[in-house]
Amino acid sequence: MIVMRIALVYYSKTGRTRRVAQCIYESVKSLGHIIDMYELRARREYMPYLLHLNPRLLYDTLIKRKVDIEVKIDVDKYNCLIIGSPIWYNTITPVIRTFIELFRGKRLKVICFTTSDLQMNYSLRFRKELEELGYEVLYNFDTVKGKIREEDMKRLVEIIRREVL
Ligand SMILES: Cc1cc2nc3c(=O)[nH]c(=O)nc-3n(C[C@H](O)[C@H](O)[C@H](O)COP(=O)(O)O)c2cc1C
Repeated sequence: MIVMRIALVYYSKTGRTRRVAQCIYESVKSLGHIIDMYELRARREYMPYLLHLNPRLLYDTLIKRKVDIEVKIDVDKYNCLIIGSPIWYNTITPVIRTFIELFRGKRLKVICFTTSDLQMNYSLRFRKELEELGYEVLYNFDTVKGKIREEDMKRLVEIIRREVL
C-alpha cells in the first residue's frame, strides 16, 4: 500500500473543532496513513470570553482581515491537507483565511470542513474560497454541533483510498 502523508490543519477557539479534528485524525490514522495535526493560533489571540461581543474578532471576521499567525508547516511534505474551521458570522475564521491565502496558486489538494451551530452548507462556501485561491478541493463537509455525519466520514475514507491508487 502507498502511504499518504496528510496534514490536518485547524483552528479552534472553544474546543469543538479540535474534537472533530481528533476524530478525523483517528479514523485516517487507522487506515495506515501518516497524518500530522496542526492547531493554528493567532499571535494575538482573541480573549476567550464573550467572543460574540469582541470588536476585534467581529472586525477581523467581517472585513476578512489577514491576521498574524505562526505557521510551522512544510506543506510540500504532504499529499493532501485537511483544513477545518469554525464558522464565525457565516464565514470561516480569520486565522484559517490567513492560512489558506499563504498557498494561493499552489494547486494543493485539500479536503475542507467547518464546525458550526447551524446547518447552512458553510463548507461549500469554504470550498469556493479555496477554489478561488487555486486549491484542488477533493471534498467538503459540514459538521453541526460537533457531529460528523457517517456518510461524510465514509466519503473521506473513500477519497483518501482513491488518492492512494
Ligand atoms: C463569534 C462567533 C460567531 C459565530 N457565528 C456563527 C454563525 O454565523 N453560524 C453558526 O452556525 N455558528 C456560529 N458560531 C458557532 C461556532 O461556529 C461553533 O460553536 C463552532 O463549532 C466553534 O468551534 P470551536 O469550538 O472549535 O471554536 C459562532 C461562534 C462565535 C464564537
